[in-house]
Amino acid sequence: MRATAKAHTNIALIKYWGKRNEELILPTNSSLSVTLDGFYTETTVHFKEDLKRDIFTLNKEEITNIAYDRVTNYLDLFRNYANKQGVFAEVHSINKVPTAAGFASSASGFAALAAASAKALQLHLTDEELSRFTRQGSGSACRSIYGGFVEWEKGQRDDGMDSFAIQIAPQDHWDIRVAAVVLTAKEKDVSSRIGMKRTVDTSVFYDGWLESLPKDLQEIKEGIMACDFEKVGAIAEANCLKMHATTLGAYPPFTYWQDTTMTVMQTVQQLRKNNIPAYFTIDAGPNVKVLYLPEDEQRVLDKLQNTEGVSEVIVSKVGNGISYV
Ligand code: PMV
Repeated sequence: MRATAKAHTNIALIKYWGKRNEELILPTNSSLSVTLDGFYTETTVHFKEDLKRDIFTLNKEEITNIAYDRVTNYLDLFRNYANKQGVFAEVHSINKVPTAAGFASSASGFAALAAASAKALQLHLTDEELSRFTRQGSGSACRSIYGGFVEWEKGQRDDGMDSFAIQIAPQDHWDIRVAAVVLTAKEKDVSSRIGMKRTVDTSVFYDGWLESLPKDLQEIKEGIMACDFEKVGAIAEANCLKMHATTLGAYPPFTYWQDTTMTVMQTVQQLRKNNIPAYFTIDAGPNVKVLYLPEDEQRVLDKLQNTEGVSEVIVSKVGNGISYV
């Protein structure tokens, strides 16, 4: 009853922003991401008959706070499914996701935890089933089951059975790069959970966001299949700006951006003025991710590293899905 799984994080090109069911984590809109090879979590889950409670270590340190509760509540899903109530587990996670990079380590974290738990309990889940389980740990994590380019279909049903991710193109379909531009190690002020909820409940721009999504999704998929970088980049950047606009229309209004966030956005626009195709996207935090093509890597990195307020730039290629160690 022991297994180790590795999962990579992902960055959304079409953002998931809003839940229709908080408990089951059912989204209001479908989203699309690329899995990144630079950032991952490796987790060992060992269910043992003699344990009195779950034990969770992260990067070799025992965790007893709210993160522990989230893990142990999540393990209950698997215990219930496998009919192993009362069998506790040792969970050891190593996170290769620098928190400062502004990636939600919850994506790779819950994907690795789900995969290792399912394997340890010999549940023999399909990818679809595993993605559904992962979704209930953290929404965006359900996309990290697969490598390459991945869509999370929001589904229609109230029970969430049709809300899971599918791969739309494998890792070797297209070699694009993503630079994570680190601005600050500061914790974000408004978590994605709270930010989404406030936006759904109060933003006067939320309906506009939802209306615009089917077209963005359809067109970006065409762009990915055709490896049309300018099309994909332009849609991803515009989609990110629309998502962030909804936060300004919320009440109380809020933004994830800092002054340096805008400085990096302008650097990316300058790159384009100099005929280097580069596009940005930003999640629920101040750091910026920049998409570019391999042949432009040196010029893009030189420009980003020399932008005021940038402390580090971490490069990723397109990554693969869950693997077992
Ligand atoms: O899955 P969560 O709760 O970490 O939310 C992720 C939300 C965004 O990163 C902003 C968008 C996305 O689709 O990943």
